[in-house]
Amino acid sequence: MVEFALPKNSKITKGRHYPAPSGATDIKTFKIYRYDPDTGENPRLDTYDVDMSDCGPMVLDALIKIKNEIDTTLTFRRSCREGICGSCSMNIGGRNTLACTCATDDVAGAEVAVYPLPHMEVVKDLVVDLTHFWAQYEGIQPWLKADSAAPQKERRQSIEDREELDGLYECVLCACCSTACPSYWWNGDKYLGPAALLQAYRWIADSRDEATGDRLDDLEDPFRLYRCHTIMNCTNVCPKGLNPAKAIGEIKKLMVERTL
Ligand code: SF4
Ligand code: SF4
Ligand code: FES
Repeated sequence: MVEFALPKNSKITKGRHYPAPSGATDIKTFKIYRYDPDTGENPRLDTYDVDMSDCGPMVLDALIKIKNEIDTTLTFRRSCREGICGSCSMNIGGRNTLACTCATDDVAGAEVAVYPLPHMEVVKDLVVDLTHFWAQYEGIQPWLKADSAAPQKERRQSIEDREELDGLYECVLCACCSTACPSYWWNGDKYLGPAALLQAYRWIADSRDEATGDRLDDLEDPFRLYRCHTIMNCTNVCPKGLNPAKAIGEIKKLMVERTL
C-alpha cells in the first residue's frame, strides 16, 4: 500500500504575537506564515495586531508597516506597489493575489491570513522559489520571431490585429494562476501551466510573429499543453482579470485546425 508522509518540518507551529500599541482602537489582526530554512525550525504563524488608523488600505501597506515598525525580519517581495511588477503575489485569505491591489477590508474573515503562493518551495517567509516558473517562461521564447527583412521603421499592425493581444499583453507574470492550478501542482515539472501558456499564446496571436508553426510544434505534447483540464482556477484568481484558460483553449483549437 502506498504511504504518504509529510516532511518532518512541514508542521506549522504557533508563532509569536505582536500586540497593537496601547490606545489603538482600529486594530486588524494579520496571521503571517514565517519560515527560515536556515534555522532548522518548523514554519510558524506569527500574529500581528496592526493599528489601521495609521496604515494604508492595502495588505501590502500593512506588510510594509509591519516590516518597518514591528518586525524587520518579515520577508516578502514587492516593488511597484500598483499591480504592475507582479512581485508581491502571495496567498491572502485563502486566495492567490497581489498584496498591493488587495484591500485589507475586502479580505473575508476577522483575521487576514497571509501565506506564500501554494505548492512552491519557500525561500523565506512569503518568498517562493520561482526559478522553474521563469525557466518555463523563457522556454516559450517570449519574443517576436520574424525572418522576413526588417522594415525601415517599426513592424506595423492593424488596429484589429493589435486588439487580438488585449487580455494577453497585460499579464504581469505574478504566478498566481499557475500556483492555483491543480494540474500544475502535480505535474509542474512537465506541464507549462497557465501563465507560460497564456504568454505562448500572446506570441502565437501576434500578427507580426512568423513562427506560429514552430511555436505550436513546441507545445504539442501530452504534458506541456494537454495537462490543462479546464478546471478554471487560473481564470478565477488572476488579479489582472485575464483568462488564461481561454488562451489555452485557443491554442488547443489551433492544434486541431492545423490537422484539418
Ligand atoms: S495570467 Fe494573471 S495570474 Fe497568471 S501570471 Fe499573468 S497576471 Fe498573473
Ligand atoms: S484551466 Fe487549465 S491551466 Fe487553468 S487551472 Fe485549470 S487546468 Fe490549470
Ligand atoms: S508590488 Fe508590484 S505588483 Fe504588487
